[in-house]
Amino acid sequence: MCGIVGYIGKREAAPLLLAGLHRLEYRGYDSAGIALQNGGMPYLKQKGSVGDLQKTYEASPAKMLGATIGIGHTRWATHGDPSDRNSHPHLNADGDIAIIHNGIIENYSLVKQELQAEGYVFQSDTDSEVLVQLIDRIWKSDASLSLEAVVRAALRHVEGAYGLCAISLRDPGKIVVARKGSPLVIGIGEGEYFIASDAAPIVEHTNRVVYLSDGEMAVITRSGYQVRTIENVAMEKDVVELDFSLEKIEKGGYEHFMLKEIFEQPAVMHDVMRGRVRSDEGRVVLGGIEDYLDRLKQAKRIVICACGTSWHAGLIGEYLIEDFARIPVEVDYASEFRYRNPIIGPDDVVIVISQSGETADTLAALRAAKEKGAMVMGICNVVGSTIARETMCGIYTHAGPEVGVASTKAFTAQVIVLYMLALALSKGRTISHDEMRLSLRELSRVPEHASRILELDRQIQEIAASYKDARNFLYLGRGYNFPVALEGALKLKEISYIHAEGYPAAEMKHGPIALIDEDMPVVVIATRDSSYNKILSNIEEVRSRKGRVIAIASEGDAEVARLADHVIYIPQASAQIMPLLTVIPLQLLSYHIATLRGCNVDRPRNLAKSVTVE
Ligand code: M6R
Repeated sequence: MCGIVGYIGKREAAPLLLAGLHRLEYRGYDSAGIALQNGGMPYLKQKGSVGDLQKTYEASPAKMLGATIGIGHTRWATHGDPSDRNSHPHLNADGDIAIIHNGIIENYSLVKQELQAEGYVFQSDTDSEVLVQLIDRIWKSDASLSLEAVVRAALRHVEGAYGLCAISLRDPGKIVVARKGSPLVIGIGEGEYFIASDAAPIVEHTNRVVYLSDGEMAVITRSGYQVRTIENVAMEKDVVELDFSLEKIEKGGYEHFMLKEIFEQPAVMHDVMRGRVRSDEGRVVLGGIEDYLDRLKQAKRIVICACGTSWHAGLIGEYLIEDFARIPVEVDYASEFRYRNPIIGPDDVVIVISQSGETADTLAALRAAKEKGAMVMGICNVVGSTIARETMCGIYTHAGPEVGVASTKAFTAQVIVLYMLALALSKGRTISHDEMRLSLRELSRVPEHASRILELDRQIQEIAASYKDARNFLYLGRGYNFPVALEGALKLKEISYIHAEGYPAAEMKHGPIALIDEDMPVVVIATRDSSYNKILSNIEEVRSRKGRVIAIASEGDAEVARLADHVIYIPQASAQIMPLLTVIPLQLLSYHIATLRGCNVDRPRNLAKSVTVE
């Protein structure tokens, strides 16, 4: 992990690689590096930011000059601490082969021991370095082999996941790439090619790309590219047109991507619904699942698998599908599902939810479900991502590229998709035509409500200022707002490093109440729904133990104002719609607390945007 770039063409490679690495910064990383090919194989790698690497390059660019081939990497430490020597690229002792690698080589320890026994000396603590040393060993045993042949042979020795790029002075003028479990995209320019782990570094150069699939390799030269399987069978790949612009991945005047993405939500909500929500006709059109809708409706059970924020969206999906469509739903962490030998069969539908479409655990859950014969449907944001391609059918969230590591607009887009799905599954079965029209009308009004909530930004910033030094936070919600409490707590902890926990409000008395005192701020989602009176009692319980309460309440609710220290009023809507509204103030609260504490909200420590390893 975490980001890969590569370039081969006629232009100076170093500035292009550095610009590409900047574009990948959103994924989260701790060190960065580049290796190039001119007469030699100059490289730079160090712990710290791409900006630091750029400064090192600018201090002495001469040795990099004239290189029109190169590879670059941002690393997110898994094996070996973040340090200069563990950064990629990794080179062999002769300094004439360089590799960068995303993923984890699971049998690296064994391979390393074998190589060490033969006299190989390792420069890093990483699993990745075994790849370059293996390539070196294979080449030393047969100098006539091509770079692609030695890479292929090396990959046969290893187990695990890889997105790999290799260059060498022994077979110059080409980049060899290979993929298993870690995404790689090739961008096709005019006499030049770009390689990246996602399309963000490519889109400013070309919108024509080829996505490699697992088990595929490519040899890229200035005059073309050839894709083969790892077993060396030639393949034809489709060239795909990217449909996102550079503007969409730039900050557009906001201080951080996260804030931009929070504020984009009303527009994103429109985009998710465009052409799909037909309130007047009382129907939802979901092209990606149309052919499978009957089978979905007949499911004995739906199992939703996801991680992190997408898992929270899945919990809301459970409530929505059970409420509207009356089909039993279970929600599982993808990481648990894949290892617990779940009882799944052809009568079940497994829905995987993923913003990136590349999360390793979610992908593994998808594959496990498929193996057991279940129908597998995806809800993904990134078009062409691995999960999107491996599911039988699916719905794109159309939230546009999400750059901030903390997921915001992707979450609301996922919930809207789940709401539309629940209604599509109900049609003709569990709700009347009029109920359908009403529910869709309510959904159509959500972007307008969201815009009004965003106007509360200043008030939320002021509340944030009072709590920025808190060491713990508790988030409480009931019913549809319980998963929102979990999401609010996750948002706060991941970007501000404040310990936060989400709980169903009624569970408080079974443990967390012991923690409540004047140093424990409690965020309570107390909108008017069937459990409103009960949640007021929960607020009383917090107050009587001197806890400070920040309440999210329905407009006009004077009762909550009497009990809470702060109230953030949001428009009233039905319980099913509420998560789409209540989450927005919580996103803003986390954002402001984190920025007031001086945290890097777009790139929180230790986190990656897309977790492509276990
Ligand atoms: O790309 P995915 O939706 O599969 O990612 C799942 C989680 O890694 C992700 O939601 C993570 O929890 C975010 N950092 C939350 O903000």
